[in-house]
Amino acid sequence: MDAMKVLVVDDEPALREVLSMRIESWGYRVAMAAHVAEAQRRIRLDRPDIVISDVVMPEVSGLELLKMLKVEDPAACVILVTAHGSIDAAVDAMKEGAQDFLTKPLDYTKLHALLEATAAEVRRRGELEKLETELDGEGRLGLLIGRSQPMRSLYDTIGLLAASDASALITGESGTGKELVARMIHETSSRASGPFVAINSAAIPEGLMESEMFGHERGAFTGAVRSRSGCFEQANEGTLFLDEITEMPASLQPKLLRILEDGRVRRLGGSRETAFDVRVLAATNRPPANAVADGVLREDLFYRLNVFELHVPPLRERAEDIHLLAQYFVREFRAKHDAKIAGIRDEARELLESYSWPGNVRELRNVMERAVILARSEWIEPTHLPPFLRGDGPKSTAVTVPLGTSAAEAEKALILRTFEHVGYNKSETARRLGVDVKTVRSKLRSYGVS
Ligand SMILES: Nc1ncnc2c1ncn2[C@@H]1O[C@H](COP(=O)(O)OP(=O)(O)OP(=O)(O)O)[C@@H](O)[C@H]1O
Ligand SMILES: [Mg+2]
Repeated sequence: MDAMKVLVVDDEPALREVLSMRIESWGYRVAMAAHVAEAQRRIRLDRPDIVISDVVMPEVSGLELLKMLKVEDPAACVILVTAHGSIDAAVDAMKEGAQDFLTKPLDYTKLHALLEATAAEVRRRGELEKLETELDGEGRLGLLIGRSQPMRSLYDTIGLLAASDASALITGESGTGKELVARMIHETSSRASGPFVAINSAAIPEGLMESEMFGHERGAFTGAVRSRSGCFEQANEGTLFLDEITEMPASLQPKLLRILEDGRVRRLGGSRETAFDVRVLAATNRPPANAVADGVLREDLFYRLNVFELHVPPLRERAEDIHLLAQYFVREFRAKHDAKIAGIRDEARELLESYSWPGNVRELRNVMERAVILARSEWIEPTHLPPFLRGDGPKSTAVTVPLGTSAAEAEKALILRTFEHVGYNKSETARRLGVDVKTVRSKLRSYGVS
């Protein structure tokens, strides 16, 4: 890390020298100025991070310097030094936005602590600025945020797919952003002006699935009072996203395959086949090879969909994206909740970065919304994060919940830690906790974990 630059402004040569030497001995780079005009020249040349200035100087005072600097850059960090007992000067200094003020004779221990705190603030703002720049440029592809190597190669693959009409299978754990990836493939492709239709096999009752997919004519079955188009027709000239493909009923899979091969679909109860022009993307949070081996995904359908495979890695394998994503969600939710949060304090950031995120980006998003609502200050602190992020080291096999934690939060901490400890296996989690797997499933879902 580069040393912070400090500018010392004092008209008294001896004081200036002594002060500079002290500050240098603490590891800062120091420049000096004997009056305000010289200080302004130095500031333009050296761009110091922190300015320490005497208040009482001939011609222009330190307070004037402070005012001028704040006009140019409201984030400028200025510490004023006033003669002992001059309360008015101190009050003025704070009102004009000084970082702090110190009285003469200088207490060096105090000055050192103040400089360290100010330096930390300067670093935090620098980091925030970098994040914001990245969020506006390199660190994203449309709505997809991330600057890690795996995300960059994902962006490259999406770029390649933009020029083709090939099918793709998007794999990855729950909450990693598979649907968002599908949307970005659609939006960067030549079909972007066409529809994006998503159909989730896990969310639609088996009896309705066929009609959702292929559509039906009036009277095709009891209750079919009107004819209706299926998702292939709806997605015509656009993209059809088949979410949770391994949950598609086995009886429908051969039918789906045939339709994909033919490029024509016939509504239930209909006699006419309609041609469609659709690009198909599919997603699953099960490793597809296992799904094929387990017989829940037909091998021929798998090959038809898996022309390209895009794997979205779990968040714990791209920890370098966590801060950027968290800052992105801060932006999103401070707008929504009209909050004043600027960013995340280092201690909170460390907690976010060392947690394993079994629910991936979806869970991080939930955690950040809660933090933005709870935080009343400018920075998100560890106390604004849920208890299950705090307290436990990654290798600890204990769950620590502070007194005052609600039963619901404690239960959540226990379930999440167990889930993580057994390698994200729901049935094993249920066995260890002595509850049935349905309970674990619904709890995890309510936490936004799967
Ligand atoms: N890289 C990312 N940048 C920004 N937001 C993201 C990213 N990845 C995921 N999200 C957000 O996280 C949430 C979950 O993403 P998404 O629904 O795409 O996940 P998924 O992989 O389809 O999950 P599931 O398997 O449970 O359906 C969404 O709110 C999405 O906007
Ligand atoms: Mg999804």
